[in-house]
Amino acid sequence: MKSSAPPQTYRVKSFGCQMNVYDGERMAELLAQRGITPAPEGEEADLVVLNTCHIREKAAEKVYSDIGRLVKAGREAGKEPLIAVAGCVAQAEGEEIMARAPAVSMVVGPQAYHRLPEMLDRAVKGERSTDTDMPPIAKFDSLPARRKSAPSAFLTVQEGCDKFCTYCVVPYTRGAEISRPFRDLVAEADKLVAAGAREITLLGQNVNAWSGEDDKGRTVGLGGLIRRLAGIDGLARIRYTTSHPADMNEDLIAAHGEVDKLMPYLHLPVQSGNDRVLKAMNRSHTAESYLRLLDRFRAARPDIALSGDFIVGFPGETDAEFADTLKLVDAVGYAQAYSFKYSPRPGTPAATMDGQIAPQVMDERLQRLQAALNRDQHAFNQASVGKRCAVLVERTGKLPGQWLGKSPWLQSVWFEGDAALGDLVEVELVEAGPNSLAGRLLASVPA
Ligand code: SAH
Ligand code: SF4
Ligand code: F3S
Repeated sequence: MKSSAPPQTYRVKSFGCQMNVYDGERMAELLAQRGITPAPEGEEADLVVLNTCHIREKAAEKVYSDIGRLVKAGREAGKEPLIAVAGCVAQAEGEEIMARAPAVSMVVGPQAYHRLPEMLDRAVKGERSTDTDMPPIAKFDSLPARRKSAPSAFLTVQEGCDKFCTYCVVPYTRGAEISRPFRDLVAEADKLVAAGAREITLLGQNVNAWSGEDDKGRTVGLGGLIRRLAGIDGLARIRYTTSHPADMNEDLIAAHGEVDKLMPYLHLPVQSGNDRVLKAMNRSHTAESYLRLLDRFRAARPDIALSGDFIVGFPGETDAEFADTLKLVDAVGYAQAYSFKYSPRPGTPAATMDGQIAPQVMDERLQRLQAALNRDQHAFNQASVGKRCAVLVERTGKLPGQWLGKSPWLQSVWFEGDAALGDLVEVELVEAGPNSLAGRLLASVPA
């Protein structure tokens, strides 16, 4: 590879889950520390970090088409960018990316990106490097302190997964479950709030598997961490995602009834409503145990909005088994949910199972499932009309004087009037669309 001038501008493009968004922000902070600035909108950057996702085939293949596009745009502009591939494709494919994409000079896994600056120094000299080490948690200690935050911030508290669902790559790309220390998280949350955050969403591939030692030396779970963070002045809202049914405990459920700042929303993926399929997926719950768990959350917080993830067309799934998923959806009444066609992933047990489902069958099942989920989402939004609630203002709307924010139940709400980013305002929800609600501004809620 040719040597190149040190980059002056960067762009980080994150795909996949919110943990990648968090990692992308941290990589941007590392680059900013080097004096590299974000490339202005519409301009080619000198350095592009593709922070990739390996969860489904489409997501993983996207990285190669993106690289192709970058190289082409670079040639047209007379200067090819330095390209780093980060994230879960980097972890899963490592050297393969180097072989397949000569334009890439850095491949860095999700546990190694604190070394990006050193890799960049080598890249400038024309040396290509790959780092997919998985040192336990060392990364966080080498990252710069948080200085800037949007009103709603992410905070990774837990990484990795030990669950090994048979369809999923995450245990391979992110490694074993690790919890960041309590005091580090409190310190980072303090910094985020001082930097402008009003809401913090605690992140983990299995966020509710988090555990640690609190300031009094007691072992606590996520509920204990949430109770401590709720004491931070200026922090108005706490959320967490994504949870696993097997890691739920009474204290976290109880926190939903006891901690005002903990928002009434739970994302608890179920994947299927059929017990045979769940077993073949190596999920540890049954449809019934999942429903009973949701009952406990509803008892603690009756207005809790429920969300989930679904996979249709897992190998061997019959029509009758898929119908059980629709039955479960009817029983829950999700406020919002994500649904995917099963995608065979290299190296996972399900990829070589008998009974792979034809694409047309998957399409048809996904359509039916999404119709049911959309119906329930619309019904949930409709049922919110007339309510008064706090909205955290996160963005400006399309028109002057328009604002966009989130309700406690994570619905997008837009309204007009006198407000500013980061405000918590009281609105009356006046109209429901399929994906958002219109609100009428009542008052600003004092911080
Ligand atoms: N740790 C979380 C989510 C991980 S990935 C959990 O266990 O719920 C996010 C979602 O992607 C999963 O919940 C699942 O619905 C979906 N997913 C994972 N692997 C997949 C695959 N091979 N094909 C299709 N969807 C998949
Ligand atoms: Fe993947 Fe299952 Fe782990 Fe979630 S719990 S990340 S679906 S293996
Ligand atoms: Fe994708 Fe990795 Fe997240 S595979 S969903 S970016 S953990």
